Amino acid sequence: MEKTIDENKQGETLVIPQKKENTKKLFIESYGCSMNFSDSEIVASILNKEGFNTTQNLEEADLVLVNTCSIRDKAEQTVRKRLQKYNAIKRDVNPKMKVGVLGCMAERLKSKFLEEEKIVDLVVGPDAYKDLPNLIAEVDEGRDAINVILSKEETYGDISPVRLNSNGVTAFVSITRGCDNMCTFCVVPFTRGRERSRDPQSIIEEVNDLWNKGYKEITLLGQNVDSYLWYGGGMKKDFDKASDIEKATATDFAKLLELCAKAQPKMRIRFSTSNPQDMHLEVIETMAKYDNICNHIHLPVQSGSNRILKAMNRLHTREEYFTLIDNIKRIIPNCSISQDMISGFPTETEQDHQDTLSLMEYVKYNFGYMFTYSERPGTLAERKFEDDVPEETKSRRLREIIALQLIHSEFRTREFLNTTVEVLVERESKKSNQEWSGRTQQNIVVVFPKENYKIGDFVNVIVTDCTKATLIGKAVSNANN
Ligand code: SAH
Ligand code: F3S
Repeated sequence: MEKTIDENKQGETLVIPQKKENTKKLFIESYGCSMNFSDSEIVASILNKEGFNTTQNLEEADLVLVNTCSIRDKAEQTVRKRLQKYNAIKRDVNPKMKVGVLGCMAERLKSKFLEEEKIVDLVVGPDAYKDLPNLIAEVDEGRDAINVILSKEETYGDISPVRLNSNGVTAFVSITRGCDNMCTFCVVPFTRGRERSRDPQSIIEEVNDLWNKGYKEITLLGQNVDSYLWYGGGMKKDFDKASDIEKATATDFAKLLELCAKAQPKMRIRFSTSNPQDMHLEVIETMAKYDNICNHIHLPVQSGSNRILKAMNRLHTREEYFTLIDNIKRIIPNCSISQDMISGFPTETEQDHQDTLSLMEYVKYNFGYMFTYSERPGTLAERKFEDDVPEETKSRRLREIIALQLIHSEFRTREFLNTTVEVLVERESKKSNQEWSGRTQQNIVVVFPKENYKIGDFVNVIVTDCTKATLIGKAVSNANN
């Protein structure tokens, strides 16, 4: 199942095809959201042209890069442990190894990394990856190197990323960078800067290129995809200053979705993440209009309490969220919906928590990603509120939220029993080498006996059984997708 933060993928090492003439070895490891995994592909692509081949063997690496996440304290602690591990290898086995920190933690801690973590040679923020060749040259000459400048324009639109080729079927395509929303709990606007959209032309070219290489599904990525707006380049917040022509010819997210759906009518199109306050009816209508846009919306709500939503600076109410859900279900009856939820935001009362549970009861999400509140330095919530909900209360509320989600997931999974679903085959099932595993449009995992089908096929599968979150079925025919 696709996740905003995919726990199975945390710490995955990126490996790309080897170039014979390359002599240096790069070990690159990624933590956090899909955007980080996508960024690591961009980094590997840049360094592939600078003489680096990737390796999965830390001990032989000339350069170790870790792409980091700051979203919760736990994410940062994981990276600190990895840095200690690299340090030990550098000391005992491979003294010539250089270590660099990329991504959100690099941006948040900046030069503190060079001062405190003595084993770090290189600190590079999310908008500075094109500067990596220069920074590495600095390091080679024995100096520490740092670039954490956030950009108004950088979208890496001109870099065609090498793919982390785990299945050759699904790929990420990034469409916006940064976020302007300023949810009070969130560190992303500080670590990834102002929101910028990528040129639709370069997005379509990447989509076409992926199709030609055999990919069958793409996920358009952004912190807030519904806010996508291209008017010739520049920050979203400067749209007001654009010329009349730029405004009239601008591309919003609904238009971009349509462009992608039309460019490759047989390619499945997904997107993540949607923000309720920015998701317009046009997007839902465009989804309904094109069969190849998948009927799944990841629509984080964070809390069901109006008071807490306000304190979080989420610019919608519970009632507005319900209207949005009703509209989705009216326009796309079989659309799946997933959530992100935070328990124990400052000042959250038992009643606020009950509001969260009752909101979940209304929507009955297909699945979700649920967390306890983690105070992040520098955020508005840290400055404005005391982190006053005790850890045991946060955890108990989280357990209740997860338990309810499990009931809803099972309920939603069972709705598919005895129906025929279209599955894109992605890999062998983890449980049996006689079975394929793939996903429905709704992003639900399906396993079924392989027969003569192969990875990358669209298959109609009749669902005969299910577990809490997985459908079990039998192939009927190739889908004429
Ligand atoms: N718009 C982004 C959100 C990034 S953060 C996206 O593309 O998904 C992913 C999720 O982490 C958020 O939806 C929120 O539920 C959770 N999160 C963010 N900051 C958090 C914090 N300080 N404590 C706990 N959870 C947090
Ligand atoms: Fe964070 Fe809110 Fe943006 S959760 S990424 S500030 S939409």
